[in-house]
Amino acid sequence: MTEAQLDPETLRGVIARELADARQRTAQLTDCLDDADLVRQHSPLMSPLVWDLAHIANQEELWLLREVGGREPMHPEIDPLYDAFEHPRAERPSLPLLPPAEARAYAREVRGRVLDLIDRSPFGGTRLLSGGFAFGMIAQHEVQHGETMLITHQIRACRGGSPVLATAAPGPAPADAFRLPSEVLVPGGPFTMGTSTEPWALDNERPAHTVDVSSFFVDTTPVTCGAYAEFIADRGYDDPRWWTAAGWEHRQRAGLTAPLYWSRDGSQWTRGVFGTTEPIRPEEPILHVCWYEADAYARWAGRRLPTEVEWEKAARFDPATGLSRRYPWGSSEPDSALANLGQQFLRPAPAGSYPDGAAPCGARQLIGDVWEWTSSDFRPYPGFRAWPYREYSEVFFGPEYKVLRGGSFAVSPVACRVTFRNWDYPIRRQIFSGFRTARSAGPEPA
Ligand SMILES: [Fe+2]
Repeated sequence: MTEAQLDPETLRGVIARELADARQRTAQLTDCLDDADLVRQHSPLMSPLVWDLAHIANQEELWLLREVGGREPMHPEIDPLYDAFEHPRAERPSLPLLPPAEARAYAREVRGRVLDLIDRSPFGGTRLLSGGFAFGMIAQHEVQHGETMLITHQIRACRGGSPVLATAAPGPAPADAFRLPSEVLVPGGPFTMGTSTEPWALDNERPAHTVDVSSFFVDTTPVTCGAYAEFIADRGYDDPRWWTAAGWEHRQRAGLTAPLYWSRDGSQWTRGVFGTTEPIRPEEPILHVCWYEADAYARWAGRRLPTEVEWEKAARFDPATGLSRRYPWGSSEPDSALANLGQQFLRPAPAGSYPDGAAPCGARQLIGDVWEWTSSDFRPYPGFRAWPYREYSEVFFGPEYKVLRGGSFAVSPVACRVTFRNWDYPIRRQIFSGFRTARSAGPEPA
């Protein structure tokens, strides 16, 4: 999605393409499983995939056909079943959900009507329609569920389910990856954080505001499996010095000894990847670690996690112009030469990949590959206004959630911006989470 105002005809094309891309991925993630696998709950942390399927359609109906189009509800009796706030994930399998064939038929029916609506929409007059926002919100919603469904696939496959997803592997790191400095300097001073102009940005990314930051160093690439294995070998999981009090308590209670899906095979570590087991690849960014593990690693390394402000400044501040960029590389839309997005590959690319996608500071892979934990709690920006509904972000603000940035290989470009904010509990690691570390250029703040 471009930042410029598009004429309605072009916008119609963009919206139709984004919705079609999202639906294609939904189909790829659900058509490969039989009905029993779609209905089964593979983890209490995740919905049965058949819930995702009808929930995607239900949100599309609610926001596009009813709110924007003024249509009557198609099946009002099913609305409560697919309200994420009414039923936490753990209880969803006990609900009288639509069976797979009916869920698919419902999704097709809604989509057909939405395509009619797009043809007649003026894309103006109301805030929901301006710039096609409501359509963009729904396209982003579907691809976010595409990531959630991929997480369910990983859980299912690592619990013995047959591998059903096949993808190509990303290429090797470019030759210069081995000569990169381990960290890069981001100069101190004010910069613009957040956005007031990105048409499909969500409420928590708004408004743009100026933040002053002291100079800091940040890792050139995400922390790799090889580096993380050194932390394990140095008994990092056994040393409370590296862990916060809450982190140490969690590490003990949950029995953490390595990232999720890692196992010891003799002298080497292996990792489960969508149903296959392979030796860890030392050059690959670490994946499936919780915030407490990321934070402990950083302390062990004599560093710390970047704040969310630092992450965004590293990702977009251009010292040559003093301006904040739309993406680390500039303003062009993400493509396969710039970032690992969109489930093209089901794994992060080796550290140092995507030199063309580097930020002005020289850091690589800020967009795509792995979600990066930051040290920050999820908080509203100054001037935040909940929109279009409180439950989108506002109810999650507070110290219990940590912010992740940058998107993973599983995120589609439509839902990945340099301003995009994700949040989760510090114990979560089924998500596609990794991190990079930082340090202050001057004395560390007390
Ligand atoms: Fe949802």
